[in-house]
Amino acid sequence: MAGKTAFASGVVEMLKEDHAKVKGLFEEFESADGQEQAEIAATAIFELEIHAELEEKLIYPAIREAIDDSDMMNEAVEEHHLVHVLIKELKKLKPKDEKFHAKFSVLSELVKHHIEEEEGEMLPEAERHDIDWDALEVAVMKRKEALMAKSSKKSGSRSKATPKSGRS
Ligand SMILES: [Fe+2]
Ligand SMILES: [Fe+2]
Repeated sequence: MAGKTAFASGVVEMLKEDHAKVKGLFEEFESADGQEQAEIAATAIFELEIHAELEEKLIYPAIREAIDDSDMMNEAVEEHHLVHVLIKELKKLKPKDEKFHAKFSVLSELVKHHIEEEEGEMLPEAERHDIDWDALEVAVMKRKEALMAKSSKKSGSRSKATPKSGRS
């Protein structure tokens, strides 16, 4: 490890960790059932909402400004839009509903595709550009903490659905 902001910034590492966590939850979902499946889905949704907000509000704008590829960024934003639509619909369904499983599987496919594009194209491209990764990391971590605190307070009473989010 030489220079402090050379590459593989903390932000990119964090995004990749989030991606791995969510992909793991999608896999667990497939082999679980009943209440366990409902809890896994709730945790995945919780993680996705925080991750998406960090990207939309802080990370994508920084990348968009640094790289010259608005097509790629616009496509990523459209994929986020679909993720939000599916999450909104999932929240209206009971996990027992037969549509829930189908919708969650579509969400999982969409997110996995999106992650592939981020890790395969967008993030490597971003790392080749001049972004103030240190400042971005500080802003992202601060926002993440605030979002997690807010969400755990909000879902405090009907909690247990997000057991893995409470580490600290
Ligand atoms: Fe991402
Ligand atoms: Fe994303």
